[in-house]
Amino acid sequence: MCGIIGYIGNQQATPFLLEGLRRLEYRGYDSSGFAIRNGEVSVFKRIGKVSDLEAMIPKRIEGMCGIAHTRWATHGGVTDANAHPHCSSDGKIALVHNGIIENARSLRNRLEKEGVKLLSETDSEVLVHLIHREVKNGAKPLTAVRRTLKRARGTWGVCIIFEEHDMIICARNGSPLVIGLGDGENWIASDTLPLQTLTQQVIRLDDGDLAVVTSEGVQTSRLDGRFTDSEVTTLDDDWGEAELGEFPHFMLKEIYEQPEALRQCLTGRLALSDGNARLGGFDFSSKKLQKIPHVRLLGCGTALHAAQVGRLLIEELARVPALAHVSSEFRHNNPVIETDAIHFAVSQSGETADTLAAVKEIQLKGGEVRGVINVVGSTIARQCGKGCYIHSGPEQSVASTKAFSNMVAALSMFAIQIGRARTLSREKGKRLTKSLQKVPQLVDDYLSNPGPIHEVVSAVKDAKSVLFLGRGISAPVAREGALKLMEIAYIPCLAYPAGEMKHGPIALLEEDSPVIVIAPNDSLKDKTVSSIQECRARGAKIILIHEEGDPIAEESDISIPVPSTDPMFSPMLTVLPLQLIAYYTALVLDKDVDRPRNLAKSVTVE
Ligand code: G6P
Repeated sequence: MCGIIGYIGNQQATPFLLEGLRRLEYRGYDSSGFAIRNGEVSVFKRIGKVSDLEAMIPKRIEGMCGIAHTRWATHGGVTDANAHPHCSSDGKIALVHNGIIENARSLRNRLEKEGVKLLSETDSEVLVHLIHREVKNGAKPLTAVRRTLKRARGTWGVCIIFEEHDMIICARNGSPLVIGLGDGENWIASDTLPLQTLTQQVIRLDDGDLAVVTSEGVQTSRLDGRFTDSEVTTLDDDWGEAELGEFPHFMLKEIYEQPEALRQCLTGRLALSDGNARLGGFDFSSKKLQKIPHVRLLGCGTALHAAQVGRLLIEELARVPALAHVSSEFRHNNPVIETDAIHFAVSQSGETADTLAAVKEIQLKGGEVRGVINVVGSTIARQCGKGCYIHSGPEQSVASTKAFSNMVAALSMFAIQIGRARTLSREKGKRLTKSLQKVPQLVDDYLSNPGPIHEVVSAVKDAKSVLFLGRGISAPVAREGALKLMEIAYIPCLAYPAGEMKHGPIALLEEDSPVIVIAPNDSLKDKTVSSIQECRARGAKIILIHEEGDPIAEESDISIPVPSTDPMFSPMLTVLPLQLIAYYTALVLDKDVDRPRNLAKSVTVE
């Protein structure tokens, strides 16, 4: 979704801004733009890729202060005019904005009555005209921005530059901004990824913060005018630089990073001799775990599917009711919150607006929420205060892969931990921790010999639709497989619990309809065989993901075996062929694998 990068310092700004935009591309966007202070404020913006923007910027443009933006359309279509930055009528102030200004309509009406001509359909543009009006009336830049934001309702991460002042003013409310500190230079970005190679020292703005950033320093204050001391934090070293290396796409790279990512997640957290897991960041006492009435997990997209796997593991191992909810629905359905229940917010980015809003709703009603998050220091992680990082490392492909596996691994450990605090025996705990520890190696084994994926690609690439079926713990895996194929290959996909197939989707089946069935070696396998037979009787082509050596392979047209593990942990293996099927199908259909149309990596609007 929208991204921001800004630079002020003792070097030319353009290379930093363009490189920053490229590093923000992974978030998903439809247009980009750039403003630089070079005696005046020069603005370039257009729809399309960052490379299209780069082509329109004069080669020798000078300037040591600038801001840039990638836009993912919310208010107003994908047009050059709607791309950011937006400028004041005299062209002396330029602004980029992430978030949504909810009262933009009334602010816009008032500006238009005063004779201001707005050039875009965006909600953001009103801000720059209001700032301009304050400046014209004699206000200093910071005061002008503060007064404007006090009139705005909604969310913002904004950066503003002025022709007449050597500074960038930025402010945050609901949309993250991080300031990277250098020597005689500073950067501003909407996430830490573009800053990784530039500096390790950062200031993370909080909601309601403003900052005046110059080449020499940063002065933070609050919307009410109070000046504040900002905390400087160090970026995690091991997050590293996310480069493609020998891989053609981030998605494939991230699929192949899963064994290592899983090791990072599990290391130091499994207590094998005790048959237990330790997730200290959750800060749950055994007493608390024994008493809780229920567990609720919240997430969107892939994180929701991981939460659905997690809830089944928790209910199975701890014999406590556990539910997974779509964050956006949960938040708006006036949920009843029990203050002694456990809530988890599951999110790769830690910035998803719907999940963040659900967290706030629970906290407002007195409940506690723990984060299960990848990005360290992200908004949801900080809002929760306590939680567990899943340690996948940077994930750049819009289609999430390694984060799913690590969320499932983290929730598997929690399921063991809460199970052991309740009814799970030490012996069973030992068996489970031992097999969980082996999962990364099994993932490695599978990826080095993934089976006839290309045969599956031929079977699905021209299909009108693809049906995914699974039972129990494989039902959310089926949903995840359908989401992956739909989002990057644009093939309509349907995922159903296998037993429910006969109540509707069976109507779609005709000769050669592809049906992808996930059937690990669990107690539900025989029932899934019945569903397979019902599909075959209608001429469907069965693509079966199953345990190595299992005679169930005979039920399939295309068999994809995965290494054997405890059925509870099978999602971390059965999901792998689904990720590869989606990847190679999108490739064959010539789609933009890492940046599928209309989607965003981190969805920061509700
Ligand atoms: C977007 C992404 C998905 C992701 C979902 C939740 O829709 O395209 O890949 O699963 O957001 O994101 P989160 O960062 O909260 O896990």
